[in-house]
Amino acid sequence: MKTVIEPFRIRMIEPIVMTTREERERLIREAGYNPFLLPAEHVLIDLVTDSGTSALSTRQWSSMLGADESFTGSRSFYRFQDAVRALFGHEYVLPCHQGRAAENLLSRALLRPGDIVYANTLFSTTRANIESVGAEGRDLPTPEATDSSSLFPFKGNIDTAGLERGLASAGEGRVRFVVLTVTENSRGGQPVSLANIEAASEACRRYKVPLLLDAARFAENAFLIKLKEPAYKDWAPREIARRMFSLVDGVFMSLKKDGLGNSGGLITLKDRDWAEKVRVQLLVMEGVPSAGGLAGRDLESLATALDEMLNESYLDYRIASTGRLGRALDEAGVPVIKPFGAHAIYIDGRAFCPHLPDEQLPAWSLSVALYVESGVRSWETGNVMRGRFDSASGTWTWPDMDLMRLAVPRRVYTQSQLDYAAEAVIELYAKRESIRGLRYVYRPAQLPQFVATFEPA
Ligand SMILES: Cc1ncc(COP(=O)(O)O)c(C=O)c1O
Repeated sequence: MKTVIEPFRIRMIEPIVMTTREERERLIREAGYNPFLLPAEHVLIDLVTDSGTSALSTRQWSSMLGADESFTGSRSFYRFQDAVRALFGHEYVLPCHQGRAAENLLSRALLRPGDIVYANTLFSTTRANIESVGAEGRDLPTPEATDSSSLFPFKGNIDTAGLERGLASAGEGRVRFVVLTVTENSRGGQPVSLANIEAASEACRRYKVPLLLDAARFAENAFLIKLKEPAYKDWAPREIARRMFSLVDGVFMSLKKDGLGNSGGLITLKDRDWAEKVRVQLLVMEGVPSAGGLAGRDLESLATALDEMLNESYLDYRIASTGRLGRALDEAGVPVIKPFGAHAIYIDGRAFCPHLPDEQLPAWSLSVALYVESGVRSWETGNVMRGRFDSASGTWTWPDMDLMRLAVPRRVYTQSQLDYAAEAVIELYAKRESIRGLRYVYRPAQLPQFVATFEPA
């Protein structure tokens, strides 16, 4: 059979409510033209993020009922620790409440002012945490990553020549660690190949610099390796994931994405000294080391998911459903980033709205217009998220790409709901000149996408 079906059936439903256009115009105005600030009950199809929004399985719910809520040393923690060790192969397992908490713990424990962290592409919260302790994050994406005409299958790769140069030229000890975000989440949700992880690992070993994975979407990355990297076509996703983890010194991650958790984060490390330093921070900021601020039922649900997330028919369905959304847009001429990743489809805001200058925030304005048009909520990974303002010169530096992201929650939306979202974007594309630009009313210095407000330009 050609049709890839959802490998589950639905036993519990949650109604979604259609609003009128007039209501949506009022709601988005009241939210300061920031889709993130909309009350979720007024959103019809919520593609703002794939984070913390997964539908849980019956196995996850039933393991939660059997959870041990002891303050420390709970049975649920040991079950989680065993599942993590078996998959990641790293001795030290430190849970925390979400991905950015893991980034904060690592940054405080390990970074000093002036340190450099090289990466393929850092996610915005990772960069903010690195910068918050006076260190600097430097992205080294592979050159194909910013070429919208390239169909290179691993646009998430790090530029290994650039990494080599960076490691060679930085003074000794200045590069504290290197990060590979798998899959990256700022330039199209693109995967990193195993060959690239191997090359980065080899360079890092030569320069004695630890290599870490931001592994929020490692299962999807592993499956894309299976599909696109010929040497691994016969490997199980779990074997590929284990190979990825064997090449690095540790992992930090949100467990709210591939981890199928409504909350949760994780750090795994090989090095005892680093684990000790992180543990001290963990006790100050998150909770006891055998919980990291998570309830026993969270740990149970996450331990179960470490198995489910690597199930091949689930990953097959996941890629097929995101790809179907991307193909529908592509066939209608909507400027999408290709090849498609697994967790989201990204639309080129500048190409969609050529009448809007960067100052009028094309991708953000598109996201606002899509909500007003259809009730579909999306988000931006572009001029608002990554634009930098230099107050001394009064000038903006805009990112290489200004993208609007349709992120697909896991196991939540049916094919017809995603078809509706595609149709909404396509209808908007037909009248794209009508999309009005926006300008800032309020912009905080860091992570503006979460709280900034806007008005029509
Ligand atoms: C690649 C990546 N790293 C880190 C994070 C932060 O994780 P969390 O939202 O759990 O704090 C995200 C969240 O979207 C992400 O996509």
